[in-house]
Amino acid sequence: MSNELKRGLEGVLVAESELSYIDGEAGKLGYRGYAIEDLATQASYEEVLYLLWHGELPTRAELEAFSENLAAERSVDDEVLAAVADLARSGADPMDALRTAVSMLPTYDPEADADAEDLAATRRQGRRITAKIPTILAAFDRVRRGEEPLDPADDLGYAGNFLYMLTGARPDDVAEETFDMALTLHADHGLNASTFASMVIASTMADIYSSVIGGIGALSGPLHGGANEDVMEMLEEIDESGTDPVEWATAAREEGRRIPGYGHRVYRVKDPRAEILEQRLRDLSASNDDTKWLDYTTAIEEYLADQGLLEEGIAPNVDFYSGSVYDHLGIPTDMYTPIFAMARAGGWIAHVLEYQTDNRLIRPRARYTGPTDVEFVPIDER
Ligand code: COA
Repeated sequence: MSNELKRGLEGVLVAESELSYIDGEAGKLGYRGYAIEDLATQASYEEVLYLLWHGELPTRAELEAFSENLAAERSVDDEVLAAVADLARSGADPMDALRTAVSMLPTYDPEADADAEDLAATRRQGRRITAKIPTILAAFDRVRRGEEPLDPADDLGYAGNFLYMLTGARPDDVAEETFDMALTLHADHGLNASTFASMVIASTMADIYSSVIGGIGALSGPLHGGANEDVMEMLEEIDESGTDPVEWATAAREEGRRIPGYGHRVYRVKDPRAEILEQRLRDLSASNDDTKWLDYTTAIEEYLADQGLLEEGIAPNVDFYSGSVYDHLGIPTDMYTPIFAMARAGGWIAHVLEYQTDNRLIRPRARYTGPTDVEFVPIDER
């Protein structure tokens, strides 16, 4: 057994996977061999879910059946919605509300007692979770704005239905397409922290609900899913204070602060998902005749490139652009990380299904550095 300590499990191989191919040096990402650029622009999120969960792209008939089955699971039980509404009225954080709501779902799942080894049942449960997350999140946001939650619109796809349930208006094609693309870009990304958390839980043969709840918890941190909100807050801070974006970035560098949306454990070059979202941001900025966020992000990116960050392997990641894209779609900032969870749940479920076909309990070790043979002193004698 190697005694080499790998902090943060950096570069450690713990499983084989056919899901995401990532080349961090070349800036390449693919799901099951298909380039992310093709999937983002030519496949719907449902198609990508099918690919991740079933191993191959669906035929049109397969996709129709899959999408119908997914849409049929969108409704959320009244008790869960009532709890979500209570949380919304008491000012809960949306990620906390999502985690709590997902915890309640198995109570209303007809297959809650299914064995974790029954992968067909796990897949159906995963489908229910994936279908219900948008309903939970949209209801949460509407209630806190004093609006009634809306029933899902059966004739809209996964992305379009979420935008409808959130805003109350049927999205136009550009909004629906953009959001669908963002979901695809966030669907999977190898053994990132939240996916690994989900797999650790699944490796104990716990149910898929527990894995998704663990994934939501891991994703909520600022080093992972929370970074997209930090980027938007940075842009808003720049805007409200009237600071020049380059001055803001200069001060952040001088004060040793990290630039949100920059850097990645795997990518040493610009994240391919960031490239795609940047183009989307350019299109939206032009069509909305509002280039403010684009101008700020471009100015910061150019400044940081001049500062040599790219040579150090610190480049924009997906979060650098997703926030401004969501803002153009009218999505509130604190919903960005929950939306990331909505998309990534598909990846968590795919990895659990894949890992459980050949499960082995994940159980690493720590190098013990504390004292040994310490004499125990009873409490009243200390
Ligand atoms: N801004 C400025 N410098 C950064 C940076 C950033 N966003 N990200 C990393 N660096 C620098 C670190 O300061 C460190 O420099 P040092 O060795 O001189 O201290 C070096 O790059 C390596 O950083 P490290 O934290 O060891 O890399 P990591 O692989 O653990 O970090 C992240 C990956 C994502 C956690 C990190 O880049 C980060 O905190 N980014 C901001 C948050 C973010 O965007 N997260 C979303 C990721 S998709």
